[in-house]
Amino acid sequence: MVRISDVRAYEVLDSRGNPTVYTVVTLEDGTRGDAYVPSGASTGKHEALELRDGGSRFLGKGVQKAVENVNGVISKAVIGMNALDQRAVDEAMINLDGTENKSRLGANAILSVSLAVARAAANFLNIPLFRYLGGVNGIVLPIPLMNVINGGVHADNSLDIQEFMIVPDGAETFSHAIQIASETFHTLKKLLKEKGHSVSVGDEGGFAPNLGGTREALDFLMKAIEEAGYDDLISIALDVAASELYLGDGKYRMDGREMNRQEMVDFYRSLLDDYPIISIEDPFAEDDYEGWEMVTAELGQTVQLVGDDIFVTNIERLAEGIREGYANAILIKLNQVGTLSETLDAIRLAHENAYRTVISHRSGETCDTFIADLSVAVNAGQIKTGSLARGERTSKYNRLLYIEAEYGGTYGYFDPFEV
Ligand code: PGA
Ligand code: ZN
Repeated sequence: MVRISDVRAYEVLDSRGNPTVYTVVTLEDGTRGDAYVPSGASTGKHEALELRDGGSRFLGKGVQKAVENVNGVISKAVIGMNALDQRAVDEAMINLDGTENKSRLGANAILSVSLAVARAAANFLNIPLFRYLGGVNGIVLPIPLMNVINGGVHADNSLDIQEFMIVPDGAETFSHAIQIASETFHTLKKLLKEKGHSVSVGDEGGFAPNLGGTREALDFLMKAIEEAGYDDLISIALDVAASELYLGDGKYRMDGREMNRQEMVDFYRSLLDDYPIISIEDPFAEDDYEGWEMVTAELGQTVQLVGDDIFVTNIERLAEGIREGYANAILIKLNQVGTLSETLDAIRLAHENAYRTVISHRSGETCDTFIADLSVAVNAGQIKTGSLARGERTSKYNRLLYIEAEYGGTYGYFDPFEV
């Protein structure tokens, strides 16, 4: 046992230049652990609350209140607790907050402490974070879902779908995956340039060209994959982020058209027919359960359907989805729920029910690499952490390259049901 002796938070910046919380936890023997909290833009409305100050400072986005909550009530509650008992620390904060969505203290405040305590514990034991979280069983280097063309609310362009991702699922190792994805990324840049498109990048490091629509973006991806020579090794994934396209009443705005649920499902089916798409995230809006049920029934056997806004890493929402037949995979974002323990619970419930997990960054990030270690620890098999540009995205890939080189492991999906 080792006690927490100090907890201190700071207001720092994320990759969009907005304030976020950084916390350092110190243990009684002087060991430290720290963590930065990320922040979303296409935030699900059922997510735990990210506490912002409001007012004019930082245009309302300051996090001084969250910082004060860490330095005040939270630190008082967790100082003296055993840093090796993560669940007790997380439960103490959940109880202290006392709300359903962490709106009293802020999920940003609570998460920063939760993750910093885990890091401090790993440092105290002198083992890497992924090993602390996953033990000897955490051995799978994840397949990256790399967002190379950005649209939706992540870019100021004409594309409705938020993320067009390349997925090097045919690579042999994680480092091989990074190599072929990087070559494809640079080929895509060249092709876009040749056609006179912008190659400036969006929030997640992907290009944000003004293309005519979904199919034009996919055609560019295919051309890049083929010209790089990897059409047998690289597939495609989409994050539609359909909550942002929902008009209400079962209707969506997509590619300049209004579509009903059946038209949306048919639209996805036609894309699956024409492109090597292996995963579609948020094909329907967060509260459009009818749409989710329809797409899961019609396409759930042929493609991975990832629930992000609908599940928000929340174990109760996921349990409902499993019961009702929504999606067949879940996106995992630590700050949607606000503690490490609740995140691990959601991952376990997913795996027990043969739902795949994709560990994810947020569009507002820092260079913190916690999710890289988490993805290996839980054998998620997939990570979504942006393009192959921007330091806050590549930091996660670099951490995984290091883990693979130093500790080995296997690359790809971990499917206990296939053993
Ligand atoms: P966000 O986007 O971080 O802006 O929510 C990521 C996603 O929708 O998966
Ligand atoms: Zn998403």
